[in-house]
Amino acid sequence: MGQLALNNLSKSYGANHVLQDISLSVKEGEFVSIVGPSGSGKSTIFQLIGGLYTPDAGTISLDGKVLNDSRGHISYMPQSPALFPWRTVLQNVELSSEIAGTKFDRSKTMELIKSAGLSGFEDAYPSELSGGMKQRVSFIRSLNAPQSIICLDEPFSALDEFTRLEMQQWLLSIWETYKKSILFITHDIDEALFLSDRIVVLSDKPAVVKEELIVPFGRPRSEELLLSDPFLTLKREIYNLLRG
Ligand SMILES: Nc1ncnc2c1ncn2[C@@H]1O[C@H](COP(=O)(O)OP(=O)(O)O)[C@@H](O)[C@H]1O
Ligand SMILES: [Mg+2]
Repeated sequence: MGQLALNNLSKSYGANHVLQDISLSVKEGEFVSIVGPSGSGKSTIFQLIGGLYTPDAGTISLDGKVLNDSRGHISYMPQSPALFPWRTVLQNVELSSEIAGTKFDRSKTMELIKSAGLSGFEDAYPSELSGGMKQRVSFIRSLNAPQSIICLDEPFSALDEFTRLEMQQWLLSIWETYKKSILFITHDIDEALFLSDRIVVLSDKPAVVKEELIVPFGRPRSEELLLSDPFLTLKREIYNLLRG
């Protein structure tokens, strides 16, 4: 469960040709990142996967079934946390199962809240939380959804560097526990390298897949990796791909 495949996706908005023949896949339990310049069509890929828009050509399939145009198969975390202000932390986290029409598992929800360092904040409202806390609520809400693949669109881009690194480490630890497939969008090369099993590099618009790289670093990963020679070598390679 949780195998996603995009085959030769193309998409234009009117005369604006955004995606050209995009193919990529995420295997079960895999962490794949898409990096690309701003405006290259990364969020558009998620909108197609989520069924908000229809591709002009190509197919999207999950576990071997084509899902073009049908919604509700993936769990999607947008760039801003999008919590409901009138719902508590607990009620926000349980929203994903509510929408999917599945039963709550209160003990799982409480465990997730604990893993996010939010014990004691179950009944707090979003306005009482810091930016990082809101992100964590939003993320565990995606994790609490019954879908086996999670799409994250630049979830940490608004955070300062230290909070971002903490959040990345937290995301990895929780992903290692729950092992859902993740498709992650970022324009931050360090972030993609630190988190992923594989990285798909997109060109400028109309976006094509420039390169797909396997990230060779073992897990668990720690902060020191960020300054190691193999890390910096790969970082340079991706940087040049994005620039060239
Ligand atoms: N709903 C939309 N309607 C029309 N044009 C859009 C829409 N969404 C995105 N675009 C255009 O598609 C291009 C790619 O946007 P987007 O997918 O948001 O890129 P990225 O996420 O890589 O920054 C941009 O030129 C943007 O203006
Ligand atoms: Mg975007």
